[in-house]
Amino acid sequence: MRTINVGLLGCGTVGSGVVKLFQEHPDLLDRRVGAKLRIRKVAVRSAPRVPVDAKLLTKEAMEVVRDPQIDIIVELIGGTDVAKALCLEAVANGKHLVTANKALLAEHGLEIYRAAAEKRVDLGFEASVCGAIPIIRSVKEGLVANRILSIMGIVNGTTNYILTKMTESSQAFASVLAEAQAKGYAEADPTLDVGGGDAAHKLQILASLAYGGYIRFSDIYIEGIQKIEAVDIAFARELGYRIKLLAIAKQEQGELEVRVHPTMIPEAHLLASVGGVYNAVHIRGDSCGSLMFSGRGAGQMPTASSVVADIVEIAHNIVFHRPSHASLLPTSAVGSEITLRPMERITSGYYLRVMAMDKPGVLSKVSGVLGEHNISIASMIQKGRDEAAAVPIVMLTHQAVEGDMRRALQKINALDVIAQETMCIRVEGVED
Ligand SMILES: NC(=O)c1ccc[n+]([C@@H]2O[C@H](COP(=O)([O-])OP(=O)(O)OC[C@H]3O[C@@H](n4cnc5c(N)ncnc54)[C@H](OP(=O)(O)O)[C@@H]3O)[C@@H](O)[C@H]2O)c1
Repeated sequence: MRTINVGLLGCGTVGSGVVKLFQEHPDLLDRRVGAKLRIRKVAVRSAPRVPVDAKLLTKEAMEVVRDPQIDIIVELIGGTDVAKALCLEAVANGKHLVTANKALLAEHGLEIYRAAAEKRVDLGFEASVCGAIPIIRSVKEGLVANRILSIMGIVNGTTNYILTKMTESSQAFASVLAEAQAKGYAEADPTLDVGGGDAAHKLQILASLAYGGYIRFSDIYIEGIQKIEAVDIAFARELGYRIKLLAIAKQEQGELEVRVHPTMIPEAHLLASVGGVYNAVHIRGDSCGSLMFSGRGAGQMPTASSVVADIVEIAHNIVFHRPSHASLLPTSAVGSEITLRPMERITSGYYLRVMAMDKPGVLSKVSGVLGEHNISIASMIQKGRDEAAAVPIVMLTHQAVEGDMRRALQKINALDVIAQETMCIRVEGVED
């Protein structure tokens, strides 16, 4: 029986999960591959987090990617500098590559996809988006007959945990974040998660595959959840909505929107019930209709499960001499058939919480500005009376153009009766 050799770079959270799976299911993996699948080297910087045969360990990751005995390199060190150099060197040496590194692919994927296509090696990155959920494979293969109309995903577990907790307990963002950090659900520096960057990395990867062209990370509009207040969550509930951080890609009239921001969705929408650290992706295709994928989007074993799935698939391809699939990767920029729609021109429903002094005529001033900018109000709540302080006026608008909304908000916020910046949250999923 032939042996397929794997070189593992990094034996931290996910890397040690991969080692565990190899240790727990060796026969199962061999049977599924049709060959002996073995980890030949493990590059580490410090002691691995699981027992690993000392003979396999090395501190020289570059040596691993150049080892002529190794067929598949699995990059699990994270970061973008060293990881990029190692991945490109692995591909240059004709190795197939598996990575869970969403930051690397979102920021430098084009170079890596092109190198893989040129060298005709396979590239597996299922674990880079939504951990255990086989979403990459579904978009790349299962849905290939479809024009993808939209993708809406809860792709960051930390923010979903925070928003779920805020919804259940009416606590403020800062205290829920502190609790999430104490429980290990949020990093000590949570910026990438709560600021939406991590979700945008995943959207970049998914949307580039779904729409057949490499989307520049800098073209994705990103807004985090830091400004969401408990009062907005309460109003959303009262109006029959939930607030989620959504990664959205939508194709309309030959244009593509790619954006990450807090979003209000109707409580009956499939995504609204996805709580805690869970991830979910809702896809609409022109043939398949609506589909929903959900599950554990991170964590050691769910992520290792997807990494090993990629390793097994590539090993299987090697055994059966199947050609590489790298030619299907998005190796050119978003093409001539589809252009990116600037954020200014997207349309959406909007939730507005205007903090206004409780004086006669305030409402007509605010609605007047909205009307001047072609924005019509679908429903409104005004609660409490306090002549000395600002009170919230909450509105849901019909579909409006983002640029009009931005200009209207500038004018509303400048009115002398407005006490603080108006909270504005986009509303989606009403039509799904
Ligand atoms: N954790 C998850 O749930 C999850 C989910 C999806 C995707 N991912 C992605 O998976 C990748 C790995 O994440 P992780 O959570 O496993 O990170 P991690 O726990 O920090 O593990 C990374 C490991 O790589 C080691 N390392 C760093 N530079 C190295 C080098 N030059 N040579 C050898 N080893 C090196 C680190 O060593 P030290 O121990 O010395 O720091 C650490 O043990 C990241 O790209 C991440 O975005 C993670």
